[in-house]
Amino acid sequence: MATYQEVYQSWQADPEGFWLDAAKAIDWVEPPRAGLSKTADGIDEWFADAMVNTCWNAVDRHVAAGRGDQTAIIHDSPVTGTVTHISFAELQDRVSRLAGTLVARGVGKGDRVIVYMPMVPEALEAMLACARIGAIHSVVFGGFAANELAVRIDDATPKAVLAASCGIEPGRIVHYKPLLDQAIAMARHKPDFCLMLQREQERADLVEGRDFDWHEAQQGVAPAECVPVEGTHPAYILYTSGTTGQPKGVVRPTAGQLVALSWSMRNIYDVHPGDVFWAASDVGWVVGHSYICYGPLINGNTTVLFEGKPVGTPDAGTFWRVISEHKVRSFFTAPTAFRAVKREDPQGEFIGKYDLSALKYVFLAGERADPDTVRWAEEKTGKPVIDHWWQTETSWSIAANPAGIELLPVKRGSPSVAMPGYKIEVLDEAGHPVAPGTLGAIAIRLPLPPSCFTTIWNAHERFVKSYLEHFPGYYETGDAGMIDEDGYVYIMARTDDVINVAGHRLSTGGIEEVVASHPDVAECAVIGAADRLKGQVPVALICFNAGVTRDADEIRKEVVALVRDRIGPVAAFRQVVAVDRLPKTRSGKILRATMVKIADGETYKAPATIDDPAILDEVTEALKSLGLARPAGEA
Ligand code: COA
Ligand code: AMP
Repeated sequence: MATYQEVYQSWQADPEGFWLDAAKAIDWVEPPRAGLSKTADGIDEWFADAMVNTCWNAVDRHVAAGRGDQTAIIHDSPVTGTVTHISFAELQDRVSRLAGTLVARGVGKGDRVIVYMPMVPEALEAMLACARIGAIHSVVFGGFAANELAVRIDDATPKAVLAASCGIEPGRIVHYKPLLDQAIAMARHKPDFCLMLQREQERADLVEGRDFDWHEAQQGVAPAECVPVEGTHPAYILYTSGTTGQPKGVVRPTAGQLVALSWSMRNIYDVHPGDVFWAASDVGWVVGHSYICYGPLINGNTTVLFEGKPVGTPDAGTFWRVISEHKVRSFFTAPTAFRAVKREDPQGEFIGKYDLSALKYVFLAGERADPDTVRWAEEKTGKPVIDHWWQTETSWSIAANPAGIELLPVKRGSPSVAMPGYKIEVLDEAGHPVAPGTLGAIAIRLPLPPSCFTTIWNAHERFVKSYLEHFPGYYETGDAGMIDEDGYVYIMARTDDVINVAGHRLSTGGIEEVVASHPDVAECAVIGAADRLKGQVPVALICFNAGVTRDADEIRKEVVALVRDRIGPVAAFRQVVAVDRLPKTRSGKILRATMVKIADGETYKAPATIDDPAILDEVTEALKSLGLARPAGEA
């Protein structure tokens, strides 16, 4: 058995050979002969000469290999009290009929389809049906407001929207249909049609001539076969937060995704065909794309699709119940979810009630895994708890502990080491690599490995400017941190305006745009303050327009409502405080980083360029009124 070092070195010695070898795990219509090539814009791309179909690899080939009876999807839904098993043969039937329905209504290769659905099997079927016919899906998370959906509709210009009538959050129904109707009304682009999955918890009114019932639309339609597409054909667009309110549509290449995800399932997550894999995320995020839908299915695993929460559905034992009931081998969640469980069940009493013998590993990602949470999970589960680091842009781990190759010693607080394909370096402001243990910007030497994005939808210049220009020859990750003497990576902070709220990536710039649009707000700053449960939460400091005499509390409530209405509940935006002035440099730059330090109760040094240091005292008092700006340890 090769060691991690040997595998990493074999990639370094022959990167193209390494990935062409990994490509043998995929069924090709035309196998790739070349690994790497360049686009007309000079961007590296993988497997451009191949022809392939994702759905064939995720579904049909397992049926053809005689494993049609194996469960492909377990939909475990504590919010509806149901557990449903769907075999690969059933999935093939359901997906090919849905794909046929899309084709019959004019959707073909390259057309975009927006998927706006909760955690139901039909969401995965929608993604796979698009992949089957070469259509490009864009899944939109249910916790976003209509305005965010409208922005995505205008950017992706979909021919169709596949949606469900409602989602179910603990204690409330999420009314998807009115949100969808509002979004379509707001958007300049109008889809040709919508397919609506009517859930029994809330049935939606259909718009005559535009909306069709999911099942009725499939009546009498011929199933569609898999359409071969080029290796570089976009598999999907997934919008993620950048520095502005305009989200970035990350474009995933088809063949690269197949090869890298298949490699990762075996070598990182140590699962093999027939094993049960569970990523407790949402289909609206990249984790959901890579490790609820595509990765496990491509690898012939049973994937668990969980419609519930770590706590409250019904209790803090849900994770352990699902793991034991479905014999999950590798489990993947976000540190926030464990912090929520730990808060309710600090002694891990629920864990003792379930048989976790099938579980081999717990994987964490989405935000920094704080050592306390990792230690708690290790102690209570008795399993290795593996932090790994990646981004929507890459779709799989940049750094991880490759359990399928060799479980390296865990260093709590580090997502371990670089995966093959990634040469990670820490750079100073001038772009020079720094010594081990020194903080800096984390960058990856080009070329990026298979499955990493190669552009931003409709915004190739933004792609080049945001990621490739600052450090020539590198991909700039937007994360800051260090690498130690043993090659372990530490991710400490973002270098941009992105914050991470309960494992969800949000743009403070985007929230600021909304806050600033309130008629009584003259200017504002939104920062991410440390939060014990969610990692970070957004906090707004606002200055009122001169002459505003309205009640400050009323205005604050309106600002909170505005963000919920425009961005959505997922922003978890509740904290607003009024200040007379914002701290700025003499050139007018708002000192956000200093305010973050104040909010988190850290010591800070006012920058020499500050315009008026006295403002920092005002900001400190204001943040104290929100319960922030307390020294660590102080309640
Ligand atoms: N559709 C609609 N609304 C949603 C939603 C969805 N899919 N997901 C979350 N929301 C809403 C919630 O209902 C909540 O609304 P509220 O303000 O009315 O209460 C709001 O968005 C914030 O949600 P969330 O961040 O999930 O906070 P919470 O307090 O409801 O739950 C946790 C806290 C820790 C249990 C939860 O954040 C969690 O499970 N986190 C794990 C995150 C994760 O898996 N991330 C994926 C990255 S790998
Ligand atoms: P997303 O694109 O939503 O997956 O968010 C990616 C960002 O989340 C990264 O750039 C990091 O800032 C953060 N992140 C993800 N995983 C980790 C991790 N394991 N440790 C620290 N930060 C992480």
